Amino acid sequence: MLRPKAQAIDLGGKPDLKSPDLYLHEEHHDAFRRLRAEEPVYWNPEADSTGFWAITRYDDIEAISKNPKLFSSAKENGGHRIFNENDIDGNDTDASMISMDPPEHASYRRMVTPGFVPKRILGMEERIRARVTRLLDNLPKTGEAEFVSSVAAVLPIEVLAELFGVPESDGPKLFEWSNATVGEDDPELRVSDEYMKKCVLEMAGYAAGLWRQRLENPGADLISMLAHSRVNGEAMTFPTYIGTFILLVVGGNETTRNSISGGLLALSENPEERRKLLDDPSLIPSAVQEIVRWVSPVLHMRRTATEDTEIRGQRIKRGDKVVMWYASGNRDEEKWADPFRFDVTRYTKSNVPTQLGFGAGQHFCLGSRLAELQLKVLFEELLRRFPDIHVSGPVRRMRSNFIYGLKEMPVAYTPGR
Ligand code: HEM
Repeated sequence: MLRPKAQAIDLGGKPDLKSPDLYLHEEHHDAFRRLRAEEPVYWNPEADSTGFWAITRYDDIEAISKNPKLFSSAKENGGHRIFNENDIDGNDTDASMISMDPPEHASYRRMVTPGFVPKRILGMEERIRARVTRLLDNLPKTGEAEFVSSVAAVLPIEVLAELFGVPESDGPKLFEWSNATVGEDDPELRVSDEYMKKCVLEMAGYAAGLWRQRLENPGADLISMLAHSRVNGEAMTFPTYIGTFILLVVGGNETTRNSISGGLLALSENPEERRKLLDDPSLIPSAVQEIVRWVSPVLHMRRTATEDTEIRGQRIKRGDKVVMWYASGNRDEEKWADPFRFDVTRYTKSNVPTQLGFGAGQHFCLGSRLAELQLKVLFEELLRRFPDIHVSGPVRRMRSNFIYGLKEMPVAYTPGR
């Protein structure tokens, strides 16, 4: 039931991409730069498992993502994380679409897709704006705040509560469970195994209660959609429902939160780019794509080779783990003009690659439009109300090789505008 902690390994000067410490102080970008140039298909041994191939170039990541027959996400082959999902004792809650291959994957994705169609997402804009306005109204009049807990973490959780049709007051519980679920390597987020077990049980109990409620009284929310959906005439199984619930809680929450906070950090470190957005807010949609490229809040996803094959001439054996590092593909010198420059106008130019932060292929992020909308509205309102808002002290990062996250980020601004 518990996701294992990453164990460090000494690779004699070579990078251990699995080490959560690599991502605490932005050292991963140097490691990836070296690998892209010298070993773009790099064998990363593991202390507690078989090792994995680290894929660091954009084109390889895209090609692997689009070939699920050869590179599987299925739980029975190991799933989408570096650890093997099928090795975890009693893990019957992870069987969600993200750990499935076609054609099974498509049947499950179809069940949730109506909740994310453009019309429905666009219909949420005014409510998202009202939420953002309230959060910004509540920022302290002292002109100093902790941005993650007061804004970045709250907005995605409230939006998730709306999608689920639950009260916003349930938000803190969803927040805690989500952190504990993906925070296995951060002792502040998973304080102990017992605490994690408690969170999993609470989350499953909460999800089960919602399922029963919506079977009887369906609404237009995502939970009702799942409770009443059919795959080949059959209802979704309960473990798959729980897995999907967890996927939505984590997928909708950690990622958006860290794009919001990481975006403000990037704007603070690049005041000339912030100036461009202040002068011309119509650049914000381009800035949103650049923020997701720059931050890459999901550092990687994993696949497993289903046959012997080759990537860039490197032999890959059937059963090998193949880990696609989006954070690296999004800075690939062969793909991007000036990849290490944060450029809010990048997406106004022609022939710009699609950033890989939302993945590619079958599993391309189902919530991408919702995330983009939240980021757009947030930065429109934030910069309009607090044009001088900036990071005012050291930030604290989440210890993780999977989510590139910020736990604390102090900000300063001129209040009362
Ligand atoms: C900036 C914010 C976000 C980022 C960077 C992000 C990133 C990703 C990535 C990289 C994948 C691909 C997984 C793979 O290829 O194995 C993915 C899938 C997914 N995301 Fe997101 N995500 C974000 C926001 C959201 C939101 C807001 C939701 C929902 C509320 C969501 C729900 C999902 C779901 C359900 C999948 C699985 C899709 C499938 O397997 O077909 N995501 N996301």
